[in-house]
Amino acid sequence: MAGQFLIGERLGDISRRSTRLPPVSPSQLLDAFHGALSWLIVRVFFGVIGRNIPNITFRKNCSTAHAFLNHYIEIALKPGNNLNYKRDGKERSISLGMAGILANRSNDCEQIRSQLLQCIMAMQETTSTLCSNTMFLLARHSDIWKDLRKEVIGLDLDSATVEDLKRLTLVQNILKKVSPTDRMINRAGHVFLHCTGLRIYPIFATSGRTSLKDTTLPRGGGPDGLSPVFVPKNSRIITLFYGLHRDKSIFGYDVEVFRPDRWNSISPSSWQYLPFSNGPRRCPGQDKAITEAAYLIIRFAQKFEVIESRDQRD
Ligand code: HEM
Repeated sequence: MAGQFLIGERLGDISRRSTRLPPVSPSQLLDAFHGALSWLIVRVFFGVIGRNIPNITFRKNCSTAHAFLNHYIEIALKPGNNLNYKRDGKERSISLGMAGILANRSNDCEQIRSQLLQCIMAMQETTSTLCSNTMFLLARHSDIWKDLRKEVIGLDLDSATVEDLKRLTLVQNILKKVSPTDRMINRAGHVFLHCTGLRIYPIFATSGRTSLKDTTLPRGGGPDGLSPVFVPKNSRIITLFYGLHRDKSIFGYDVEVFRPDRWNSISPSSWQYLPFSNGPRRCPGQDKAITEAAYLIIRFAQKFEVIESRDQRD
């Protein structure tokens, strides 16, 4: 799925081709990527000093990951920008997913590669954590699991297209007007993913920014915190999404409680509820994440009559 999204081809299918194989295999790519990522965390931790610590393995891992992606980007940048190859003796052709889309907008290989790498990084453990958190909560609320099953049991997920799911998950705010069919997945997607998993357990609990110049924030100053507050150049500002999603004036008195139907009566603005952040740097992968997570949770709900928690935690 990730491969199809990024380069138009599932990673597992690549070795089945007999022509135009990338210079390194998908498993080499993944090993290199994870190796490089571990060192990146060390570099971030040590700030400017970290960036200057030499590490040959890191460089090698970067080159491997770059070689894999460059292969697709170079094809995407050529006229016609499809990957034509042979499999089982037959000629085939695929478009190149996000690499292809980016190549239509820029011919800068490095820039395209950086965007792809950033997406690979952003896909690591985000959607899967959302699914785990949601299942964690559902396993502790058998009544809600029953309701979810009732809503999705008759749905033919096999014939629902990705576009159907995307469209439905985009209208996840239950307060929006949707068609009755939309509503089925919408409620499953919205109520069980957006409203519970992401509100109670935002995957990004915090977000950081550094001010590039002297500026002001509209609120936060004065004794009541309602006046503007001065932010000098180079200040580090941390936003706490975890706390924001527990604002009783917006989400209700019982903010810690897993109560999906609260969303029938509240309507936070896009700055009051921020699982994917907001503004120009908001998450571009949110539809993908929610579509996949909705699909998975619905599949589980259709298959398993009951799920139960077998540990003592609430
Ligand atoms: C449940 C899953 C996900 C959550 C909760 C999430 C959340 C976020 C948040 C809060 C940010 C902003 C971070 C910041 O500015 O400090 C962000 C950025 C980003 N996300 Fe996601 N994300 C998820 C999944 C994905 C996926 C699957 C992709 C890739 C397809 C993706 C791609 C990105 C990218 C490229 C950025 C950087 C955007 C920029 O800086 O302009 N995310 N994400």
